[in-house]
Amino acid sequence: MKKYDFGKDFDRSGSGDLKHEALLPRWGRNDLLPLWVADMDWETPHFITDALRKRLDHSLFGYTVLPPDFKPCIIDWVRDHHGWTIDPEWISFVPGIVRGISFAINVLCAANDAVVIQPPVYHPFRLTTVGNGHRLLRNPLREKPQGGYEMDFDNLRSVVEDFNSRGEGRVRFIIMSNPHNPAGICWDRDTLRRLANFAKEHHIIVISDEIHCDLALWDNRHIPFASVSEAAAQCSITFMAPTKTFNIAGLVSSYAIVPNDELRRRFYSWLEVNELNEPTLFAPIATIAAFRHGEEWRRQMLRYVEGNVDFVIDFMAKHIPLIRPIRPQASYLVWLDCRGLGLNHEELLDLFVNKARLALNDGEIFFGSEEENIAATGGKGHGFMRLNVGTQRSVLEQAMHRLADALS
Ligand SMILES: Cc1ncc(COP(=O)(O)O)c(C=O)c1O
Repeated sequence: MKKYDFGKDFDRSGSGDLKHEALLPRWGRNDLLPLWVADMDWETPHFITDALRKRLDHSLFGYTVLPPDFKPCIIDWVRDHHGWTIDPEWISFVPGIVRGISFAINVLCAANDAVVIQPPVYHPFRLTTVGNGHRLLRNPLREKPQGGYEMDFDNLRSVVEDFNSRGEGRVRFIIMSNPHNPAGICWDRDTLRRLANFAKEHHIIVISDEIHCDLALWDNRHIPFASVSEAAAQCSITFMAPTKTFNIAGLVSSYAIVPNDELRRRFYSWLEVNELNEPTLFAPIATIAAFRHGEEWRRQMLRYVEGNVDFVIDFMAKHIPLIRPIRPQASYLVWLDCRGLGLNHEELLDLFVNKARLALNDGEIFFGSEEENIAATGGKGHGFMRLNVGTQRSVLEQAMHRLADALS
């Protein structure tokens, strides 16, 4: 069996990668260790680059048909990894998951309709809803006493019923991150079933963004929303992709799965007339290579990520006990609860950026816009940062030492 080396240094320079190139424009300095945007620092595995190179050797890049194995490889992967049997006609290519969500909103939401999100959550859910002119409603996740979050179904009911009763429009969508970015939660079956029943009762479509689905850690399991009940299947649009798992976000390859006939007809016919369901030449090639040859790489990569998460948790417990990392059940993003430091938002950013020289995602974006966060916290900030541990252990060691030194 091939042993992959995730600890090996890999130089990303020259690839134009966002993680490094955006340091100066975003933070005003480029001496920061980049531990922010959700891609990984490991080179794209060779079974993918080999497949792409093989196609490049045929130097004709005209219009092409979808390779015949595109849908079968997705069907096999989803069945084998997540126990969900899907029909080929339920699947459509989409050019990116954020785009897929915004297409769905544009096609299926009327002008005055509203979309519910559950912050803290991946911020493009908010941006695409507001940017496309729809009402954004929030049902904040509830913190559990033992740490982590749960959905607040009582508040969800009042948020939805209150909006619907005003007669201005209807709540059309709930957008969910499953597994959850930024807190790494694999939502459990009971929660997903309750959400499905609620959505059915209120004629709401659940958009389940499952881009992190193949990254469950330790003995956690990802459960696809649509697989938990017939109600869930019939009220949902699921988005998945190989892009996070195999570090190929730049190739833009993702897909939607819609079991409901009427919903699928409306959504997919719009994608089709606008030719938005047509991949570029390389996206399906990379997807097939990943799903047919990537399992061993994925397993080894996840073991390495688990080691990184353990390292961060242990280091912080020993040296930075005022920051509490939330152990993710999935993916390589660690949600850091920094409230113990007692810093306001500006001070927290100053600590990470100017003192420790680290570029993490500012946790505020997952709660709301700058104005909303100021209004909610009076400028104190919510006190979270998101750390990307999809990198070499040596980089994380350096990062943790920088942070500990900055605090001492
Ligand atoms: C939950 C979630 N959805 C979607 C995306 C982005 O997907 P895409 O690049 O396919 O739009 C990310 C990337 O971080 C993500 O974390």
